Amino acid sequence: MNQRKKLFIRTYGCQMNVYDSARMADVLAPLGFEACSAPDDADMVIVNTCHIRERASEKVFSELGRLREHKDAKNRRGEAMVLAVAGCVAQAEGAEIIRRAPYVDIVVGPQAYHRLPEMVARAARASGSTGGKGSGVLDTEFPVEPKFDSLPLPSNNGPSAFLSIQEGCDKFCTFCVVPYTRGAEFSRPVADILREARHLVAHGAVEITLLGQNVNAYHGAAPDGGDDGATWGLARLLYALAEIDGVERLRYMTSHPRDMDDELIRAHGEIDSVMPFLHLPVQSGSDRILEAMNRQHSVDDYRRIIERLRETRPDIALSSDFIVGFPGESDADFAATMKLVRDIGFAQAFSFKYSPRPGTPAAMLERQVAEPLMDSRLAELQSLLGEQQLAFNRAKLGHTMAVLFDRDGRKQGQALGKTPYLQSVYVEAGAALRGRIAAVRMVGAYGVSLAGEVVHPVELAVAS
Ligand code: SAH
Ligand code: SF4
Ligand code: F3S
Repeated sequence: MNQRKKLFIRTYGCQMNVYDSARMADVLAPLGFEACSAPDDADMVIVNTCHIRERASEKVFSELGRLREHKDAKNRRGEAMVLAVAGCVAQAEGAEIIRRAPYVDIVVGPQAYHRLPEMVARAARASGSTGGKGSGVLDTEFPVEPKFDSLPLPSNNGPSAFLSIQEGCDKFCTFCVVPYTRGAEFSRPVADILREARHLVAHGAVEITLLGQNVNAYHGAAPDGGDDGATWGLARLLYALAEIDGVERLRYMTSHPRDMDDELIRAHGEIDSVMPFLHLPVQSGSDRILEAMNRQHSVDDYRRIIERLRETRPDIALSSDFIVGFPGESDADFAATMKLVRDIGFAQAFSFKYSPRPGTPAAMLERQVAEPLMDSRLAELQSLLGEQQLAFNRAKLGHTMAVLFDRDGRKQGQALGKTPYLQSVYVEAGAALRGRIAAVRMVGAYGVSLAGEVVHPVELAVAS
């Protein structure tokens, strides 16, 4: 039997990283590692990193500096701490990490973390010869053996579970690092996904969010086998998942407008468990900018998709990502983004200042927009998006909605949950609600959350 060891994982970035962090813990569990809540005394620390914007990746080095102190303190006590960097910064800047932070033991890319046990063993062997310095084990390959085949089934830790079904991206938007850090598109076979979903439900999940950098480009091998190369798209997968007993709610993210096909739009109208919420990034409301971003869709394409979605599912809540200050963005381009936002009306959205990323085509463009102008555009956009979110939340005041309670609140006796429209709701009620869907009347509406009162803690079949 392995000795118990403490593992601390700090996660930055998107939901795919959240999923990967959980899977890294699963891979390391057979070695005796158990999750702990602070890095100070951990036997192993993993920093799972994000490279999407400059601020995100710069955080890594300051975080590593702080962790080094914990590692040194442990070394002084004659104990060891294995320090690992995972995720997209590891993939993009592996060698640079080892150069700038030589006390790091392991650098592992998003496609190689199933090999962590072997790397931990190598790091342990090497640390004997480096006298407490980092052992510099680097694995940022895209190995031929598929990662998912080597992973154990996940240990589920909640009513709302993530399930990665697709990885990588072939779209190459000119601002984005994801195609480089996560590699080419890959879809997991349908049978594997159904097995993982059943396992999650058997361990308490009632909601499953399917994840992928380009989730609606999903085209996984059909379950009925054969080598004829038959594949299923996301819509067909959703129909199959909805059949699994105990799957009350299905969501998926993040989608690309190009891959929003008729069948998928129809699924929103036909499958009750597909929640009336869609995160569909548009980035800009100007065709000229969309073209320069290589988004492969026009503003009108986007408007038409939203129109069809609303015909199919009139109450669908929409979310998007926006970038302001893409190189060459004029006042007129930005005004077009504001107009699109006003016309569509978003229930929530993320917006960012453009950040030039090394190795991407847009970083080479001239006419980069000056920082103060980006700041004022971002503030203007965020203020409009904030108003829309508040209005969306307020419109639900007095309504009774089905809320899935997936977390305990920070305050004693408070339970936190999600409406079908992905709004956060808190109620004053005991932990008994966790993992249940209850009818909740909305009594307060704020910028990013609602306050509710439980009407009856029984499950509601449909969202109201
Ligand atoms: N399709 C992806 C998008 C990943 S990045 C997904 O699965 O989420 C998330 C968002 O970050 C993008 O939609 C974009 O709005 C923003 N983003 C990406 N690269 C950026 C950059 N260089 N500067 C600013 N924002 C960026
Ligand atoms: Fe990045 Fe574009 Fe791919 Fe999304 S679709 S991950 S923004 S390249
Ligand atoms: Fe960041 Fe990588 Fe996700 S760059 S957003 S962690 S895919």
